[in-house]
Amino acid sequence: MSGSMSGTAHAPSGPAVDAGRSRPRAAGAPRLRTAVLGAGWVSRTVWVPLLEAHPAFEVTALVDADPAVARALVPPGRDIVVGTDPDDLLGLPLDFAVVALPNHLHVPVARTLLGRGVPVFVEKPVCRTTAEARALAAAARGGAGVYAGSAARHRADVQALAALLPSLGDLRALGLDWTRASGIPQRDGWFTDRRLAGGGALLDLGWHLLDVGLDLLGRPGVTDALGAVSGDWIGDADATADWSPRGRNRGTPAHTAGDPVEDTARGFLLTDTGVAVSIQARWASHQAVDSTTLTVEGTKGVAVLRGTFGFSPHRVPRSSLTVLRRGERTVVPLPDEPVGIEYARLVDDLARRLTRPAPSTTGTDGGSLAEIGVLAHCIERLYAAAGRTGPSPATPETWSAP
Ligand SMILES: NC(=O)c1ccc[n+]([C@@H]2O[C@H](COP(=O)([O-])OP(=O)(O)OC[C@H]3O[C@@H](n4cnc5c(N)ncnc54)[C@H](O)[C@@H]3O)[C@@H](O)[C@H]2O)c1
Repeated sequence: MSGSMSGTAHAPSGPAVDAGRSRPRAAGAPRLRTAVLGAGWVSRTVWVPLLEAHPAFEVTALVDADPAVARALVPPGRDIVVGTDPDDLLGLPLDFAVVALPNHLHVPVARTLLGRGVPVFVEKPVCRTTAEARALAAAARGGAGVYAGSAARHRADVQALAALLPSLGDLRALGLDWTRASGIPQRDGWFTDRRLAGGGALLDLGWHLLDVGLDLLGRPGVTDALGAVSGDWIGDADATADWSPRGRNRGTPAHTAGDPVEDTARGFLLTDTGVAVSIQARWASHQAVDSTTLTVEGTKGVAVLRGTFGFSPHRVPRSSLTVLRRGERTVVPLPDEPVGIEYARLVDDLARRLTRPAPSTTGTDGGSLAEIGVLAHCIERLYAAAGRTGPSPATPETWSAP
């Protein structure tokens, strides 16, 4: 796939991409030269502003198929390489890259970067299938690290729930629910095309839910799955997220992809530790606001966290955490946090992991390859149980849309 360079930027120069070195950062140490691939919503909202504001990083390259979109993200006065194709990064010295492209490009682009020795953070869903998870793990054997993990783990309300778990006794059940009032992303874009996205609400919201949920349970294996998916809202323009690019256009029927994804997924998993996990991921519903509810039931009590993950403007006004024990409900106080603060913490965590002397991709860090494999396995099992096979095989080698 050929690409072209454009933008406010200079042409790539200098030595080939550095091997995946992590520079320990003393005071005044150079920033990690970082490429952001994909200049869409998440890079505009999260990655470029947060990386640029962080002392450990500087964005030195931006890649997007649409050069105008990429150029618009270049911070004022900065000299940044702007490319239209990941190949445009060849020859650039890089310490780190963030893959924030449509889902079908995550693994092939990450593999190529890893092959050049560049550590990568891969946006969620890191992969669409277990085959892609294996391909990513194979590419990481070269030594460069794969970083991932839902920012939701860094929310104070989620951490308060985690802190309560030892007081709940033996855990028996976990309920994971993210239900949006109306939040189908990009009514006519890649998000709703199963060949590209690989899945709908389950892969999109369910990846976050399972990442947080399995972490709360101490990362068990999963032995059984039941699932049901439906797409009753997907053709309804009013159910499209009004905060998403190409957002809502009331009165106009939504264009749907030839092989559309589900807008609603319901499922049930059993862990090898005997915990029953129910999951509901919905891009649209009859609800008035978008809500995320995590329920953990143990032998000594039930904890319920209710709030709204992500950036939706249609939010539960404040997160709440309650514990029910033998008919008595206790309210656990929570800090009132700014929307999106968990992403700043994720970037902080990345800086810490990238700059320590011996980075590990297989240890206890959030988003390890083992965790990615289990998440992909859960989602694949839920889709299979619902009668959905994986996305039509855009092979890991394929970068462009089929
Ligand atoms: N962690 C989170 O909370 C979070 C939130 C939103 C999105 N995401 C994930 O981030 C990824 C991007 O989502 P988004 O909302 O920014 O999507 P988007 O559609 O807004 O942006 C994707 C960008 O990729 C570009 N692109 C498409 N094909 C390309 C190619 N072959 N080469 C180069 N550029 C190409 C598009 O031009 C577009 O600008 C998705 O995987 C999504 O699931 C994560």
